[in-house]
Amino acid sequence: MNVTPAPATLLPNEAFDVDAVRKDFPILATRVHGKPLVFLDSAASAQKPVAVLEAMDGMYRTAYANVHRGVYTLSDVATSRYEAARETVRRFLGAADVSEIVFTSGGTDSLNLAARCWAQAFLKPGDEILVCESEHHSNIVPWQLAAAATGAVVKPIPVTDEGAFDFSAFAAMLGPKVKLVAVAHMSNVLGSIMPIKEIAAATHAIGAKIVVDGCQGAVHQKVDVRDLDVDFYAITGHKIYGPTGIGALYGRRELLDMMPPYKGGGDMIETVSFERSTWAEPPARFEAGTPMIVEAIGLAAAIDYVESLGIERIHAHETDVLDHATALLNAIPGLRIIGTAPGKGGVISFTVDGAHPSDIATLLDQRGVAVRAGHHCAQPLMVRMGVSATTRASFAMYSTRAEAEALAQGVERALALLR
Ligand code: ALA
Repeated sequence: MNVTPAPATLLPNEAFDVDAVRKDFPILATRVHGKPLVFLDSAASAQKPVAVLEAMDGMYRTAYANVHRGVYTLSDVATSRYEAARETVRRFLGAADVSEIVFTSGGTDSLNLAARCWAQAFLKPGDEILVCESEHHSNIVPWQLAAAATGAVVKPIPVTDEGAFDFSAFAAMLGPKVKLVAVAHMSNVLGSIMPIKEIAAATHAIGAKIVVDGCQGAVHQKVDVRDLDVDFYAITGHKIYGPTGIGALYGRRELLDMMPPYKGGGDMIETVSFERSTWAEPPARFEAGTPMIVEAIGLAAAIDYVESLGIERIHAHETDVLDHATALLNAIPGLRIIGTAPGKGGVISFTVDGAHPSDIATLLDQRGVAVRAGHHCAQPLMVRMGVSATTRASFAMYSTRAEAEALAQGVERALALLR
Protein backbone atom coordinates (compact mmCIF):
# COMPACT_ATOMS: atom_id res chain seq x y z
CA MET A 1 0.00 0.00 0.00
CA ASN A 2 1.01 3.60 -0.37
CA VAL A 3 1.23 5.96 2.51
CA THR A 4 -0.50 9.07 1.30
CA PRO A 5 0.52 12.20 3.14
CA ALA A 6 -2.39 13.74 4.99
CA PRO A 7 -3.73 16.91 3.42
CA ALA A 8 -2.12 20.05 4.75
CA THR A 9 -4.03 21.17 7.78
CA LEU A 10 -3.60 24.11 10.04
CA LEU A 11 -1.15 23.31 12.76
CA PRO A 12 -2.66 23.71 16.22
CA ASN A 13 0.51 25.51 17.18
CA GLU A 14 0.84 27.85 14.23
CA ALA A 15 3.03 30.31 16.05
CA PHE A 16 5.73 27.65 16.42
CA ASP A 17 8.02 28.20 13.44
CA VAL A 18 9.72 24.84 12.98
CA ASP A 19 11.61 26.02 9.89
CA ALA A 20 13.22 28.79 11.90
CA VAL A 21 14.00 26.38 14.71
CA ARG A 22 15.66 23.96 12.28
CA LYS A 23 18.02 26.72 11.13
CA ASP A 24 19.36 26.86 14.69
CA PHE A 25 20.60 23.25 14.40
CA PRO A 26 23.47 23.14 11.88
CA ILE A 27 23.61 19.34 11.77
CA LEU A 28 20.12 19.14 10.29
CA ALA A 29 21.59 20.31 6.95
CA THR A 30 23.67 17.11 6.79
CA ARG A 31 23.06 14.57 4.04
CA VAL A 32 23.27 10.84 4.72
CA HIS A 33 23.76 8.46 1.77
CA GLY A 34 23.05 11.47 -0.43
CA LYS A 35 19.66 12.06 1.22
CA PRO A 36 18.66 14.85 3.61
CA LEU A 37 19.08 13.74 7.20
CA VAL A 38 15.78 12.86 8.88
CA PHE A 39 16.87 12.64 12.49
CA LEU A 40 14.33 10.65 14.49
CA ASP A 41 16.49 9.49 17.39
CA SER A 42 16.32 12.46 19.73
CA ALA A 43 15.21 10.27 22.66
CA ALA A 44 18.68 8.72 22.48
CA SER A 45 20.38 12.09 22.19
CA ALA A 46 19.11 15.38 20.82
CA GLN A 47 20.98 17.61 18.40
CA LYS A 48 22.49 20.89 19.57
CA PRO A 49 21.46 24.44 18.65
CA VAL A 50 23.98 27.15 17.81
CA ALA A 51 23.16 28.82 21.15
CA VAL A 52 24.71 25.86 22.98
CA LEU A 53 27.70 25.57 20.64
CA GLU A 54 28.43 29.29 20.98
CA ALA A 55 27.99 29.36 24.74
CA MET A 56 30.53 26.56 25.16
CA ASP A 57 32.94 27.97 22.59
CA GLY A 58 32.67 31.43 24.15
CA MET A 59 33.33 30.05 27.61
CA TYR A 60 36.52 28.34 26.47
CA ARG A 61 37.62 31.39 24.50
CA THR A 62 36.94 34.13 27.01
CA ALA A 63 36.07 32.95 30.51
CA TYR A 64 37.63 29.56 31.16
CA ALA A 65 39.43 28.63 34.38
CA ASN A 66 38.86 26.10 37.12
CA VAL A 67 36.06 26.94 39.53
CA HIS A 68 35.83 27.35 43.32
CA ARG A 69 39.61 27.43 43.60
CA GLY A 70 41.23 30.58 42.30
CA VAL A 71 41.39 34.00 43.89
CA TYR A 72 42.14 35.46 40.49
CA THR A 73 39.56 37.20 38.30
CA LEU A 74 39.18 34.58 35.60
CA SER A 75 38.43 31.86 38.14
CA ASP A 76 35.87 34.13 39.76
CA VAL A 77 34.22 34.68 36.38
CA ALA A 78 34.19 30.94 35.62
CA THR A 79 32.81 30.19 39.09
CA SER A 80 30.05 32.78 38.69
CA ARG A 81 29.03 31.29 35.35
CA TYR A 82 29.09 27.74 36.67
CA GLU A 83 26.95 28.72 39.64
CA ALA A 84 24.64 30.73 37.37
CA ALA A 85 24.15 27.51 35.38
CA ARG A 86 23.08 25.80 38.62
CA GLU A 87 20.55 28.59 39.20
CA THR A 88 19.22 28.04 35.66
CA VAL A 89 18.67 24.34 36.42
CA ARG A 90 17.02 25.24 39.75
CA ARG A 91 14.61 27.57 37.99
CA PHE A 92 13.95 25.00 35.25
CA LEU A 93 13.03 22.30 37.76
CA GLY A 94 11.26 24.61 40.19
CA ALA A 95 13.48 23.66 43.13
CA ALA A 96 13.39 25.81 46.25
CA ASP A 97 17.13 26.38 46.53
CA VAL A 98 20.27 26.04 44.38
CA SER A 99 21.83 23.77 47.00
CA GLU A 100 19.29 21.14 45.95
CA ILE A 101 20.82 20.90 42.46
CA VAL A 102 23.83 18.58 42.18
CA PHE A 103 25.65 18.57 38.85
CA THR A 104 26.44 15.06 37.66
CA SER A 105 27.82 13.53 34.48
CA GLY A 106 24.31 12.62 33.26
CA GLY A 107 21.07 10.88 34.11
CA THR A 108 22.72 7.57 34.90
CA ASP A 109 25.14 9.26 37.28
CA SER A 110 22.26 11.14 38.94
CA LEU A 111 20.32 7.94 39.60
CA ASN A 112 23.42 6.12 40.84
CA LEU A 113 24.07 9.01 43.21
CA ALA A 114 20.59 8.67 44.72
CA ALA A 115 20.96 4.89 44.91
CA ARG A 116 24.41 4.93 46.48
CA CYS A 117 24.04 7.85 48.86
CA TRP A 118 20.41 7.49 49.89
CA ALA A 119 19.25 3.90 49.28
CA GLN A 120 22.51 2.17 50.08
CA ALA A 121 23.07 4.37 53.13
CA PHE A 122 19.62 4.07 54.67
CA LEU A 123 17.85 0.89 53.53
CA LYS A 124 17.75 -2.23 55.70
CA PRO A 125 17.26 -5.94 54.98
CA GLY A 126 13.69 -6.66 53.88
CA ASP A 127 12.95 -3.07 52.82
CA GLU A 128 11.25 -2.85 49.44
CA ILE A 129 12.15 -0.70 46.44
CA LEU A 130 9.32 -0.52 43.91
CA VAL A 131 10.53 0.09 40.36
CA CYS A 132 8.23 0.49 37.36
CA GLU A 133 8.72 -2.36 34.88
CA SER A 134 9.02 0.03 31.94
CA GLU A 135 12.16 1.64 33.35
CA HIS A 136 15.40 2.15 31.50
CA HIS A 137 18.19 -0.03 32.91
CA SER A 138 19.68 3.07 34.53
CA ASN A 139 16.62 3.24 36.79
CA ILE A 140 16.69 -0.50 37.58
CA VAL A 141 20.28 -1.62 38.01
CA PRO A 142 21.36 1.07 40.55
CA TRP A 143 18.48 -0.11 42.80
CA GLN A 144 19.54 -3.72 42.36
CA LEU A 145 23.07 -2.76 43.41
CA ALA A 146 21.71 -0.91 46.46
CA ALA A 147 19.47 -3.88 47.28
CA ALA A 148 22.40 -6.30 47.02
CA ALA A 149 24.41 -4.11 49.39
CA THR A 150 21.64 -3.67 51.99
CA GLY A 151 19.44 -6.77 51.83
CA ALA A 152 16.55 -4.74 50.43
CA VAL A 153 14.35 -6.20 47.68
CA VAL A 154 13.47 -4.71 44.27
CA LYS A 155 9.89 -5.34 43.08
CA PRO A 156 8.48 -4.39 39.66
CA ILE A 157 5.38 -2.19 39.39
CA PRO A 158 3.34 -3.37 36.38
CA VAL A 159 2.35 -1.33 33.35
CA THR A 160 -0.90 -1.94 31.51
CA ASP A 161 -1.11 -3.46 28.03
CA GLU A 162 -1.18 0.09 26.64
CA GLY A 163 1.99 0.89 28.56
CA ALA A 164 0.39 3.12 31.17
CA PHE A 165 1.41 3.07 34.84
CA ASP A 166 -0.86 0.53 36.56
CA PHE A 167 -1.90 2.66 39.49
CA SER A 168 -4.20 0.14 41.13
CA ALA A 169 -1.52 -2.57 41.02
CA PHE A 170 0.92 -0.03 42.48
CA ALA A 171 -1.48 0.95 45.27
CA ALA A 172 -1.90 -2.72 46.16
CA MET A 173 1.89 -3.08 46.53
CA LEU A 174 2.22 -0.22 49.00
CA GLY A 175 2.86 -1.33 52.55
CA PRO A 176 5.11 -0.72 55.54
CA LYS A 177 8.12 -2.42 53.93
CA VAL A 178 8.16 -0.06 50.93
CA LYS A 179 10.81 2.60 51.43
CA LEU A 180 11.42 3.81 47.90
CA VAL A 181 9.59 4.13 44.57
CA ALA A 182 11.54 4.69 41.34
CA VAL A 183 9.75 5.68 38.15
CA ALA A 184 10.46 7.59 34.95
CA HIS A 185 8.43 10.69 34.20
CA MET A 186 8.24 9.56 30.56
CA SER A 187 9.13 6.12 29.20
CA ASN A 188 11.93 6.18 26.62
CA VAL A 189 10.27 3.27 24.78
CA LEU A 190 6.52 3.75 25.20
CA GLY A 191 6.35 7.51 25.45
CA SER A 192 3.92 7.05 28.37
CA ILE A 193 3.80 9.98 30.77
CA MET A 194 3.55 8.61 34.28
CA PRO A 195 1.25 10.29 36.86
CA ILE A 196 4.11 11.45 39.05
CA LYS A 197 2.11 13.74 41.32
CA GLU A 198 -0.34 10.97 42.23
CA ILE A 199 2.47 8.41 42.62
CA ALA A 200 4.37 10.81 44.88
CA ALA A 201 1.31 11.44 47.05
CA ALA A 202 0.67 7.70 47.50
CA THR A 203 4.37 7.09 48.18
CA HIS A 204 4.57 9.79 50.81
CA ALA A 205 1.36 8.60 52.43
CA ILE A 206 3.22 5.48 53.56
CA GLY A 207 6.36 7.42 54.49
CA ALA A 208 8.47 6.23 51.52
CA LYS A 209 10.58 8.33 49.14
CA ILE A 210 10.19 8.78 45.39
CA VAL A 211 12.94 9.07 42.78
CA VAL A 212 11.96 10.22 39.30
CA ASP A 213 14.02 9.64 36.16
CA GLY A 214 13.24 12.82 34.27
CA CYS A 215 15.71 12.31 31.43
CA GLN A 216 12.90 12.10 28.86
CA GLY A 217 10.13 13.80 30.79
CA ALA A 218 11.84 17.12 31.49
CA VAL A 219 12.53 17.56 27.77
CA HIS A 220 8.89 17.57 26.79
CA GLN A 221 6.90 19.14 29.60
CA LYS A 222 7.19 21.72 32.34
CA VAL A 223 8.54 20.24 35.55
CA ASP A 224 8.02 21.67 39.01
CA VAL A 225 9.57 19.40 41.61
CA ARG A 226 7.78 21.18 44.43
CA ASP A 227 4.40 20.85 42.80
CA LEU A 228 5.09 17.21 41.93
CA ASP A 229 6.39 16.82 45.49
CA VAL A 230 9.17 14.39 44.59
CA ASP A 231 12.27 13.63 46.65
CA PHE A 232 14.75 13.20 43.80
CA TYR A 233 14.48 14.12 40.11
CA ALA A 234 17.23 13.19 37.64
CA ILE A 235 17.91 14.96 34.34
CA THR A 236 20.54 14.69 31.64
CA GLY A 237 21.88 17.46 29.43
CA HIS A 238 22.29 15.75 26.09
CA LYS A 239 18.62 14.88 25.63
CA ILE A 240 17.56 18.49 26.22
CA TYR A 241 19.70 19.86 23.39
CA GLY A 242 22.70 20.35 25.69
CA PRO A 243 26.09 18.67 25.73
CA THR A 244 26.99 15.16 26.78
CA GLY A 245 28.79 14.63 30.10
CA ILE A 246 26.46 16.80 32.18
CA GLY A 247 23.26 16.15 34.10
CA ALA A 248 21.78 17.05 37.43
CA LEU A 249 20.08 15.49 40.41
CA TYR A 250 17.49 17.49 42.27
CA GLY A 251 17.36 16.28 45.86
CA ARG A 252 15.25 17.59 48.68
CA ARG A 253 17.66 19.53 50.90
CA GLU A 254 16.94 17.62 54.12
CA LEU A 255 17.72 14.34 52.30
CA LEU A 256 20.93 15.66 50.73
CA ASP A 257 21.98 16.88 54.19
CA MET A 258 21.69 13.32 55.59
CA MET A 259 23.51 11.65 52.72
CA PRO A 260 27.17 10.59 52.75
CA PRO A 261 29.32 11.55 49.76
CA TYR A 262 29.36 9.60 46.53
CA LYS A 263 32.96 10.18 45.49
CA GLY A 264 35.89 11.53 47.48
CA GLY A 265 38.24 14.23 46.25
CA GLY A 266 38.77 17.94 46.02
CA ASP A 267 35.94 20.41 46.58
CA MET A 268 33.68 18.00 48.48
CA ILE A 269 35.35 18.34 51.87
CA GLU A 270 35.22 20.73 54.78
CA THR A 271 38.45 19.48 56.41
CA VAL A 272 40.85 16.63 55.67
CA SER A 273 43.29 14.98 58.02
CA PHE A 274 44.66 11.47 58.13
CA GLU A 275 42.57 10.85 61.24
CA ARG A 276 39.25 12.10 59.89
CA SER A 277 37.77 14.09 57.03
CA THR A 278 34.52 16.02 57.13
CA TRP A 279 32.22 16.87 54.26
CA ALA A 280 31.16 20.09 52.64
CA GLU A 281 27.49 21.06 52.58
CA PRO A 282 25.39 19.97 49.60
CA PRO A 283 25.73 20.31 46.67
CA ALA A 284 29.57 20.52 46.88
CA ARG A 285 29.60 17.29 48.94
CA PHE A 286 28.53 15.40 45.82
CA GLU A 287 30.73 17.19 43.27
CA ALA A 288 34.24 15.86 43.95
CA GLY A 289 36.99 16.96 41.60
CA THR A 290 36.98 19.49 38.81
CA PRO A 291 33.38 19.55 37.60
CA MET A 292 32.01 19.63 34.06
CA ILE A 293 32.39 23.41 33.93
CA VAL A 294 31.83 24.17 30.27
CA GLU A 295 29.22 21.42 29.95
CA ALA A 296 27.21 23.07 32.74
CA ILE A 297 27.34 26.36 30.81
CA GLY A 298 26.18 24.45 27.72
CA LEU A 299 23.31 22.87 29.64
CA ALA A 300 22.19 26.28 30.91
CA ALA A 301 22.29 27.64 27.35
CA ALA A 302 20.16 24.70 26.19
CA ILE A 303 17.60 25.33 28.93
CA ASP A 304 17.51 29.05 28.10
CA TYR A 305 16.96 28.15 24.45
CA VAL A 306 14.11 25.74 25.25
CA GLU A 307 12.51 28.27 27.58
CA SER A 308 12.81 31.03 24.97
CA LEU A 309 10.65 28.92 22.64
CA GLY A 310 8.36 27.74 25.41
CA ILE A 311 8.29 24.11 26.49
CA GLU A 312 4.48 23.94 26.17
CA ARG A 313 4.68 25.19 22.57
CA ILE A 314 7.43 22.69 21.80
CA HIS A 315 5.28 19.96 23.32
CA ALA A 316 2.26 20.95 21.21
CA HIS A 317 4.40 20.88 18.07
CA GLU A 318 5.88 17.47 18.92
CA THR A 319 2.40 16.12 19.63
CA ASP A 320 1.23 17.26 16.22
CA VAL A 321 4.13 15.42 14.53
CA LEU A 322 3.59 12.38 16.78
CA ASP A 323 -0.11 12.19 15.89
CA HIS A 324 0.65 12.50 12.19
CA ALA A 325 3.32 9.77 12.33
CA THR A 326 1.06 7.53 14.43
CA ALA A 327 -1.75 7.77 11.88
CA LEU A 328 0.60 7.00 8.99
CA LEU A 329 2.28 4.05 10.70
CA ASN A 330 -1.02 2.62 11.92
CA ALA A 331 -2.11 2.42 8.28
CA ILE A 332 0.69 -0.05 7.48
CA PRO A 333 -0.59 -3.65 7.63
CA GLY A 334 1.10 -5.81 10.27
CA LEU A 335 2.63 -2.82 12.09
CA ARG A 336 2.02 -2.73 15.84
CA ILE A 337 2.78 0.31 17.95
CA ILE A 338 4.09 -0.63 21.40
CA GLY A 339 2.89 2.03 23.80
CA THR A 340 -0.51 3.57 23.18
CA ALA A 341 -1.27 5.25 26.48
CA PRO A 342 -3.36 8.41 26.14
CA GLY A 343 -1.37 11.64 26.31
CA LYS A 344 1.92 9.95 25.50
CA GLY A 345 5.01 11.93 24.50
CA GLY A 346 6.82 12.02 21.16
CA VAL A 347 8.11 8.45 20.90
CA ILE A 348 6.83 5.64 18.68
CA SER A 349 8.14 2.12 19.18
CA PHE A 350 6.84 -0.46 16.75
CA THR A 351 7.22 -3.97 15.45
CA VAL A 352 6.14 -5.31 12.08
CA ASP A 353 5.22 -8.90 11.30
CA GLY A 354 7.93 -10.58 9.24
CA ALA A 355 10.61 -7.90 9.60
CA HIS A 356 13.33 -7.50 12.21
CA PRO A 357 13.58 -4.03 13.83
CA SER A 358 17.32 -3.79 13.02
CA ASP A 359 16.70 -4.55 9.35
CA ILE A 360 14.04 -1.84 9.19
CA ALA A 361 16.39 0.65 10.87
CA THR A 362 19.24 -0.25 8.48
CA LEU A 363 17.05 0.21 5.42
CA LEU A 364 15.69 3.49 6.81
CA ASP A 365 19.25 4.71 7.24
CA GLN A 366 19.82 4.13 3.51
CA ARG A 367 17.10 6.76 2.99
CA GLY A 368 18.69 9.18 5.47
CA VAL A 369 16.21 8.34 8.24
CA ALA A 370 17.90 7.79 11.62
CA VAL A 371 15.93 5.67 14.13
CA ARG A 372 16.95 3.37 16.95
CA ALA A 373 16.34 -0.39 16.99
CA GLY A 374 16.85 -2.87 19.80
CA HIS A 375 15.70 -3.22 23.40
CA HIS A 376 16.36 0.46 24.18
CA CYS A 377 18.00 -0.43 27.52
CA ALA A 378 14.63 -1.68 28.77
CA GLN A 379 14.82 -5.47 28.62
CA PRO A 380 12.16 -6.15 31.32
CA LEU A 381 9.71 -3.98 29.35
CA MET A 382 10.43 -5.94 26.16
CA VAL A 383 9.49 -9.14 28.05
CA ARG A 384 6.33 -7.48 29.40
CA MET A 385 5.27 -6.40 25.93
CA GLY A 386 6.09 -9.78 24.42
CA VAL A 387 8.72 -8.51 21.98
CA SER A 388 12.48 -8.94 21.78
CA ALA A 389 13.13 -5.54 20.20
CA THR A 390 11.38 -2.63 18.52
CA THR A 391 12.16 0.05 15.99
CA ARG A 392 11.82 3.44 17.66
CA ALA A 393 11.29 6.88 16.16
CA SER A 394 11.44 9.83 18.53
CA PHE A 395 10.55 13.43 17.89
CA ALA A 396 11.99 16.73 19.01
CA MET A 397 11.32 20.44 18.57
CA TYR A 398 12.90 20.30 15.08
CA SER A 399 10.89 17.33 13.81
CA THR A 400 8.40 17.92 11.01
CA ARG A 401 5.32 16.35 9.49
CA ALA A 402 7.35 15.82 6.31
CA GLU A 403 9.81 13.76 8.36
CA ALA A 404 6.95 11.67 9.75
CA GLU A 405 5.97 11.03 6.12
CA ALA A 406 9.56 10.11 5.19
CA LEU A 407 9.54 7.65 8.09
CA ALA A 408 6.29 5.98 7.05
CA GLN A 409 7.30 5.82 3.40
CA GLY A 410 10.70 4.44 4.38
CA VAL A 411 9.08 1.72 6.50
CA GLU A 412 6.83 0.77 3.59
CA ARG A 413 9.78 0.52 1.20
CA ALA A 414 11.74 -1.49 3.76
CA LEU A 415 8.87 -3.91 4.18
CA ALA A 416 8.56 -4.32 0.42
CA LEU A 417 12.16 -5.58 0.46
CA LEU A 418 12.00 -7.60 3.67
CA ARG A 419 8.68 -9.42 3.35
N1 ALA B 1 18.26 6.31 27.01
C1 ALA B 1 18.55 6.59 25.65
C2 ALA B 1 17.51 6.02 24.71
O1 ALA B 1 16.40 5.76 25.09
C3 ALA B 1 19.92 6.26 25.27
O2 ALA B 1 17.81 5.82 23.56
